[in-house]
Amino acid sequence: MGGKVGEKRSRGQAPRKQGDAPVRPQEPMRIAKAIAHAGLCSRRDAEDWIEAGRVAVNGKVLKTPACVVTAGDTITVDGKPLPQAEPARLWRYHKPKGLVTSHKDPQGRKTVFEALPDNLPRVVSVGRLDINTEGLLLLTTDGALARHLELPSTGWLRRYRVRAHGRTTQDALDKLQSGVTLDGIKYGPVEARIERQQGSNVWLMIGLREGKNREVKRIAEHLGLTVNRLIRVSFGPFALGDLASGAIEEVKPKVLVDQLGTKLAGELGLHRGRLDRQATHRR
Ligand code: URA
Repeated sequence: MGGKVGEKRSRGQAPRKQGDAPVRPQEPMRIAKAIAHAGLCSRRDAEDWIEAGRVAVNGKVLKTPACVVTAGDTITVDGKPLPQAEPARLWRYHKPKGLVTSHKDPQGRKTVFEALPDNLPRVVSVGRLDINTEGLLLLTTDGALARHLELPSTGWLRRYRVRAHGRTTQDALDKLQSGVTLDGIKYGPVEARIERQQGSNVWLMIGLREGKNREVKRIAEHLGLTVNRLIRVSFGPFALGDLASGAIEEVKPKVLVDQLGTKLAGELGLHRGRLDRQATHRR
C-alpha cells in the first residue's frame, strides 16, 4: 500500500451491549482481562465488579479476581452474558489544543475522552499528547494494541510540525541524527529540517521514534528554541491528512491488518475472515 492511511470519514458505532452472546476467550486469561476484552470496562473496574459480587463464571458468583477463564466458560455480569469479544478497532483523531490525554484529570481540565462522540465504544489512546499539542492521536478499543504501538521498540516514526521561537541552523539539526542526552535522559536519533523562518519563529519538521515525555519541546530547548505550536502529523503509517480539528475517523479493518502485519493482527484476533464479515455487517 502506498502513502499513509487517512482519508474517509467514519460513521461511529454503538457501544457494545451486554446480553447478546456469551464471551468465549480464545486463550486462558484472567477473568478481569476477559471482561475488559469484551469492551465493557477497564480491568480495574472489572476487579471492582468482581469484589462486589456482580460477576459469575458458569453460574458461580466469584469472590475474587484470581480466576482464569477459557473458551469453555460462560461469564455473566449482573446475570447477563458478556458480549462477544470483538476484534481491535483503531481511529485517527485530530486532537485539538487544550485537551488532556487522560481518562480523568485531577485538575478538572477537559479530557480527550470527554470530547469524543458519545456513540464511540470505550477506547484508549496510543500514547499521549501534551495539553497544548494538536494533531494525530490514535485511539483503539484494544489496550494490548495500544501498548504495542506506543513501544519504542515498535519503531514507528512520529512526525511533528513545530513552530518555535528563535533561530537555528540545518547543521545544528543534523547533529540530532546521532541522538542526544539531556539531563541524563538519552534521546534516540532525531530527523529534523527547517521548513521556514517566519518573523521571530522558525517552522521545523521533526521525526522521532520514541515518544518520551515532552520529547520535542526538550530537544527544541536544547537548541535554544521555545516551542509555541506543536502538531503531530503522522504516527507510523497513519497520517493526520486533512482530518479537521476535533474530527475522528476509523481506520478500515483491512487497512489495519495490512499495516500491523499478519502476525500481530492474528494475535489480536484481526484475521481476514472475521474482518470480511465485520465489513459486510457495516455496509
Ligand atoms: N513532544 C512533546 O514535547 N510534546 C508532545 O505532546 C509530543 C511530543
